[in-house]
Amino acid sequence: MRVVRSVRELQQLAGAERAGGRRVALVPTMGALHAGHLALVAEARRRADTVVVSIFVNPTQFGPGEDFAAYPRPFEDDLARCREAGVDVVFAPPVEELYPAGAETHVEVERLARPLCGASRPGHFRGVATVVTKLLNAARPDVAVFGEKDYQQLALIRRLARDLLLGVEIVGVPTLREADGLALSSRNAFLGPETRPQAVVLRRALLAAEAAVAAGERDTAALLALVRRELDKAPLAELDYAELRDPDTLEPAPPRLAGPALLALAVRFPAPSGPRGVRLIDNTVLRPAAPLEDLP
Ligand code: PAJ
Repeated sequence: MRVVRSVRELQQLAGAERAGGRRVALVPTMGALHAGHLALVAEARRRADTVVVSIFVNPTQFGPGEDFAAYPRPFEDDLARCREAGVDVVFAPPVEELYPAGAETHVEVERLARPLCGASRPGHFRGVATVVTKLLNAARPDVAVFGEKDYQQLALIRRLARDLLLGVEIVGVPTLREADGLALSSRNAFLGPETRPQAVVLRRALLAAEAAVAAGERDTAALLALVRRELDKAPLAELDYAELRDPDTLEPAPPRLAGPALLALAVRFPAPSGPRGVRLIDNTVLRPAAPLEDLP
């Protein structure tokens, strides 16, 4: 496994792979790798000959007061995990490689970046879109793999790859979870013994909504009320948002669901480290069965 620090070296290396007829996959990460990240690596392995994992804690996607400084950086452990997972190249550039002095060009995906996490984290998706564009330009992969856990991020990256004609295939991987349903996240480490058991409410709320839809519920307000009741079972959870939206455009869902709808949640828990606590997100796509009269 090679560890590459410079964009030039990565471009040369990936270029040589492609010239040799080998498909290149990129898995962008901020490190602190867990089984969720490794599922993306496994998907990349299935789809390409050469797997590049980038490890870069991107300063421009953290707002003031967010956890950039506190973000975990267990680099040696990450390298060991990558080696074990059969990664070919780890790209771990210093900040100046991706943001040369005086950099003033950004990538903004307009509408998809506005709601949900974009509303509570101004500038976040501009940072994500900008760094992902840079990483795609540095590795020029045939395919890039992202998690469905960050649904809005995945939707926005699909859109920017298409809009900017990047010619890369964007692949999504389902969310990996703990045994109790909590989505794996580097931020789970900040949960304490009091808050960790309560963090299951996100998954429970998603499952409750799925069950209600399977039983015929189509009313958006009723579904969101059900979701809030589930989330209220965690007394320490503070709701950031619980919303139903169109899975492609992220526009608000209609009052009665007629097709698939994204149910997206964000909840904040108090944490011993960091005054603003731990913010957890999760989502599912609700898929109402077609009404009987619509079936062929
Ligand atoms: P990070 O939070 O490190 O996540 C890297 C990738 O792992 C993302 O595509 C994310 O959706 C995926 N992921 C995280 N938890 C997962 C889980 N439980 N199951 C499946 N996939 C999971 O997302 C970022 O970094 C950054 O915003 C990045 C895209 C690297 C840009 O800086």
